[in-house]
Amino acid sequence: MSLLKVEDLRTHFPITGGLFRKTVGWTKAVDGVTLSVEEGEVLAVVGESGCGKSTLGNSILGLTLPTSGRLFLEGQEIDIRKASSWKPFRSDFQIIFQDPYSSLNPRHTIFEILSEPMRIHGLCDRSNARQKVTELLDLVGLPASAMDRFPHAFSGGQRQRIGIARAVGLRPRLIVCDEVTSALDVSVQAQIIQLLLKLKAELKLSLVFITHDLSLVRNMSDRVCVMYGGRVMEVARTEDLFRNPAHPYTRALMEAIPSLHPDRRPKLLGGEVPSPSNLPSGCVFHPRCPRAKEDCSQRIPPLETLDSMDSASSPSMDSTSSMTSADVPGSDFAGSLRSEIPGSVRSDSLTSAEQPDSGGGPRSGSRLVACFYPEKN
Ligand SMILES: Nc1ncnc2c1ncn2[C@@H]1O[C@H](COP(=O)(O)OP(=O)(O)O)[C@@H](O)[C@H]1O
Ligand code: SF4
Ligand SMILES: [Mg+2]
Repeated sequence: MSLLKVEDLRTHFPITGGLFRKTVGWTKAVDGVTLSVEEGEVLAVVGESGCGKSTLGNSILGLTLPTSGRLFLEGQEIDIRKASSWKPFRSDFQIIFQDPYSSLNPRHTIFEILSEPMRIHGLCDRSNARQKVTELLDLVGLPASAMDRFPHAFSGGQRQRIGIARAVGLRPRLIVCDEVTSALDVSVQAQIIQLLLKLKAELKLSLVFITHDLSLVRNMSDRVCVMYGGRVMEVARTEDLFRNPAHPYTRALMEAIPSLHPDRRPKLLGGEVPSPSNLPSGCVFHPRCPRAKEDCSQRIPPLETLDSMDSASSPSMDSTSSMTSADVPGSDFAGSLRSEIPGSVRSDSLTSAEQPDSGGGPRSGSRLVACFYPEKN
């Protein structure tokens, strides 16, 4: 059973206009996302700013109500139309934001900030609150003396530790980390990621790690979900994704990563991120895609398992453009891509509940891609 599963999730915001504030359009921030998170897994969600990552994180936790789709928490389906449906799962599913300062009440001491949620959820009382807060602070690498101070007395990294302590104090099973290191210096970023991975191992947590920085997730996530224009472009095990990016957008993100290698200059993707209130037709990436063809603007490419893709299922592939290993710069890229997605990967990492006959949605261990069209030389 997946800890979290979403199927065809959409979160659209109405755009109102005119004297009577009628709905004149929709901002399609999340537009048909299907994915799952397993127990103890770190799933990174990456993509440029504005592609819908935060809205997806908020929608999963019911902080923003999705418009349509299905959502399962711990195997139970949630009624996504009612905010109260998430109530029984509040402590199990937590979120940490980019700016811990704005989410920490400046007039409350750290003791109040950390003990209050635990008290509300019945995880501590007056008699043991200080002891529990001391343990929490220790867990995130802060001294017990921190509890009597106010948020302004701490640095950005320390505040993020306090935000993490507040989330783990409720003994969650999954934490959505939304750009939690984006506002921090590089050295502090590394410390916070290390802390999250330590807590993940010690407390058997799952993490959904949202970031615009693909390079950050290489050594810390189990799988990566690449989003663009509110949709999923590719989901793969991290090592597979970095070794062989299949989707043209993943490849473009990869090429934009700065490198210390003197011969490898980052190649920035041209064009603009599409406005979610006016998404391009067909493949949402087509205005910027170096491989785009005419029919790419006609049809939305569905997310499919990589080995089920052939020239018929991908709008961008035809008989003249199908890949051979010789097409790919200096490697066995295309050949290895298919052979590298062995049945063993899927079947080994799947529980019986995730097998295809058990209830729809793509299998969590599969490599899924909306378009398989690696670059030619
Ligand atoms: N509450 C909201 N109302 C209207 N539009 C929103 C709302 N929240 C987010 N958006 C829009 O949805 C799009 C995706 O935003 P967001 O999920 O924050 O992207 P990301 O986290 O990837 O940068 C953006 O265009 C943003 O302006
Ligand atoms: S379908 Fe594939 S080739 Fe066509 S625009 Fe989209 S990503 Fe590019
Ligand atoms: Mg965001």
